[in-house]
Formats: sequence, C-alpha cells, structure tokens
Amino acid sequence: MSTIFKANDENILKAAEQIKAGGLVAFPTETVYGLGANVYDSKAVAAIFEAKGRPRFNPLISHIAEIDFLKEYVQTDERVMALAKKFWPGPLTFVLKRIDNNPALDLACAGLKTATVRMPKHPVALKLIQKSGVPIVAPSANKSQTLSPTTAEDVFESLKGKVDMILDGGKCAVGVESTIIDLTGKDVVMLRAGGIALEDLQDFLGQKVLISHGNPDMPSSPGQLLKHYAPKKILRINALKREEGEFFIGFGRVTDCDLNLSKTADLKEAASNLFSYLRLADADKNTQKIAVSPIPEKGLGLAVNDRILRASYRI
Ligand code: TXA
Ligand code: MG
Repeated sequence: MSTIFKANDENILKAAEQIKAGGLVAFPTETVYGLGANVYDSKAVAAIFEAKGRPRFNPLISHIAEIDFLKEYVQTDERVMALAKKFWPGPLTFVLKRIDNNPALDLACAGLKTATVRMPKHPVALKLIQKSGVPIVAPSANKSQTLSPTTAEDVFESLKGKVDMILDGGKCAVGVESTIIDLTGKDVVMLRAGGIALEDLQDFLGQKVLISHGNPDMPSSPGQLLKHYAPKKILRINALKREEGEFFIGFGRVTDCDLNLSKTADLKEAASNLFSYLRLADADKNTQKIAVSPIPEKGLGLAVNDRILRASYRI
C-alpha cells in the first residue's frame, strides 16, 4: 500500500488498472499531485473524501485527456471551446453546466448542477487518463486544509496507507493549483487564482474577467475557505524583515532570509517553490513562526498571494 512507483510506462499501466478496479492513485500533474479515482465509480470517489478528510460538499475536478470528451459531460459553447483550444492542456479549470441526468457524477460534483473539468499538461497524467479510459477526478493529494503536494514524497507523508499507488513524476513545474473560472454565466468569473495568469485570460478573451472572493462561510469554490493550505506555524505576510523566532521566506532582492522564492523576482519561479518552501519552513526546528516577503499582485503573484494569505489565517 502507498508505495512510490517511478512513473514509467509499465507502472502507468498498473496504475490505470488500479483506477479501473476502483482504487486510488496519486499522480503528478503540472500544478500539484492529484489523488485520482474513476469519476463514475462512486465508491472510489467516496474513498477520496475519506482519505483526504474532505467535506463531501466540496466537489472535485474531473481530468480529461481529449477535448472531445467535454461534450459528453458538460454543456459547451464557442467560448468554452475557444478557451479549451487555447489553454489546454494546461492549468486552467472550467466550471460548466452539467449535462442533464448523469447521476453517476453526483458525488464527484457534490450534487451541484455544475461540473469542473480540466486537461492537465503533464504527460504522466495524460497517459494515465488515456489508459484508464475514463475521466479521473482528482483533488490535490494531501489531507484537507494542509499544504498541497508538489513531490511524490509530499504525497507519501500526507496520505501514506490511504492510497493504492503513488506515481512519481518528479517535482511539479507550476507548483500552485490550476486557475478556476466559472463559465456558466455571461461573465467569466475567476473563482481561484492559479497557474494561468488573469492577464493572459483577459488578453485572450478581450474582456474583463471578474474576480470572486466568495463568501468564506458559503464558498462557491471551497478553495475559497479562509483557512486553507495551513502550515502548523503562524505565518506573517508582507514581512519586510525577520522578527525573533521567524523562518523568513524572501522574494526578489531580499538577502537576509532563510529561503528566497525567486532571487530574480520571477513570479513563475516563486509559485513553483511556494509549497515546498512553506513545508521546509514549517518543519524547521529552530523557529516557531514563518514570515513571507510582499509578493507583487500580478501574473502568478495572484495565486501566490492567495495561498499565503489563506495560510496566514488561524481560524
Ligand atoms: O491544479 C489543480 O486544480 C489540482 C490538480 C490535481 O489538478 N486539483 C485541485 O483540486 O486543486 P482541489 O480539489 O484541491 O481543488 C478544486 C477546487 C476546490 O476548491 C473545489 O471547491 C472547486 O475546485 N470546485 C470543484 N467543483 C466546483 C464547482 N462545480 N463549482 C465551484 N467550485 C468547484
Ligand atoms: Mg486542494
């Protein structure tokens, strides 16, 4: 149980057999590691909620390997297809209206009339979906409310004993979760900042994308829950320098820090380092708190700021 397997062809096939048999497989995507199951197997989907300790009102993203599959699943239109052709495979998730009467999806969609879908860019993820022959639902492969996993070892630490196989495809390149946009209405609404920058969406669409910060008590996307991505230590944001007892995560020109998210102030690099640095900061025995430098609120900085802001909440 829960052993880490190198993500070679043979092990991907084995993992696909697990998915078909109702098992849980953790696998790499370009954003973070996912904990996957066959979307149509409600027992397996229930086991995901169980393994993560995730509330059942929190729906799951379906991962597909071909755009054509969308039509069997959700209602599409020109805007959806254009966005899919431009940004897939990649770290962008769509909230779409479900096709009527597909009760098999009820648990994955937490009973909502919408479904979330994305096509991941990682070759291992795509191959696993293709070989399984079904969409794979996958939340991040960590215990609910903890830091998302960007390596196979992170998954092992968080979920050991609860998953049938962990496919090791190395460190995730993007490092933060996908951007989620709601395409069910006239406006495009961003529910979660992530691996695709807001500016890139707006440039492509030629229109403003609205930003939903949600109601923290009744999130339309429970990634909007205030306390999410929580380290154990107290975290201080917008820190200009280290205070007593703090592990200091810097950015850009900051030199008096324990780790620097990106010395060249590259926001993509910062996103890819974020969760692993928070993990290292949390594990450090010589400090009791964490402080993080200010991060510019543009490009992938929106996703980085969103995650550290949530990591800073104590309630
Ligand atoms: O990058 C990612 O998106 C990763 C990788 C594994 O693909 N997955 C991921 O899944 O981050 P998860 O479950 O940790 O986050 C999915 C978010 C949750 O906040 C969930 O509430 C939201 O998507 N969500 C899912 N279905 C939704 C829906 N129908 N309406 C609104 N939000 C939804
Ligand atoms: Mg998650």
